[in-house]
Amino acid sequence: MPETLRERLPRSRFTQRVHYVPVLGSTNARAKELAKRGEAEGALVITERQTRGRGRLGRQWHSPQGVNLLFSVLFRPPFSLNRVFSLTMLVAASLVDAIREMSGLNALIKWPNDIYCNGKKMAGILTEFSADARAIEYVVVGTGLNVNWDLRDQPELQHSATSLMNELGYPVSRVALLSCILEALERDYGLLLGGEDGFIRDRWNRHSMVIGRDVLIDPQGEKKRATVTGIDRNGALLVEEEGGRASSIVCGDVQVLFPSLPGNRD
Ligand code: BTN
Repeated sequence: MPETLRERLPRSRFTQRVHYVPVLGSTNARAKELAKRGEAEGALVITERQTRGRGRLGRQWHSPQGVNLLFSVLFRPPFSLNRVFSLTMLVAASLVDAIREMSGLNALIKWPNDIYCNGKKMAGILTEFSADARAIEYVVVGTGLNVNWDLRDQPELQHSATSLMNELGYPVSRVALLSCILEALERDYGLLLGGEDGFIRDRWNRHSMVIGRDVLIDPQGEKKRATVTGIDRNGALLVEEEGGRASSIVCGDVQVLFPSLPGNRD
């Protein structure tokens, strides 16, 4: 896999230091260890199986061996802490671009960091970082993307999760898909470093599953209904609460309300 990635993208900063380890605890954990030991920006950790795959909010991430994409990218952006989630947005936008380009599927971003297709989750992103008050030391963005996993024989997941293969009806080359993701990432990270970030927000807004939708938000544990109006440059979700009050949500989750199916969970 590392050789093929380098052959396809010889000049990409994301193919120069590829750590391919067949079985790992977690690619995010390994990338953070590397970061602490001084590994350079662009390092990519890939595995076929994780024994302690981590999801957001302390959840686990399950993936059978050898069928999906499990990888983490190390960034060292010259940004202050408030821009850390622009990296999550960048990776989400690259995933959506690559999935659309390779398969034609209508992949959408669900704030803050999931990729959905036809109402089911196809990928999740976990961002972890180290920073002080002035600057970011490193950011590790980990992706679990369901590629060739047949979820139809997974009773607990088949109604909420999907894979490219399940949507298309045929398997997809993981290395070709990862090359496509890294190509988009290389292009867009370059733009982000050059100070252009409006394009990510535009693309994110265009491919968003939540813009214009009614959602349930959970400020201070009290559920409130709101309409999503956009995201800001730092990745916070902008909403208009019932009664017209505008606010922004920096972290957490939202539940998308489907007007035709009241009470339905996304
Ligand atoms: C989520 O939806 O909760 C985020 C899931 C992120 C899973 C990926 S798999 C590769 C990387 N390593 C981890 O331990 N987690 C992320």
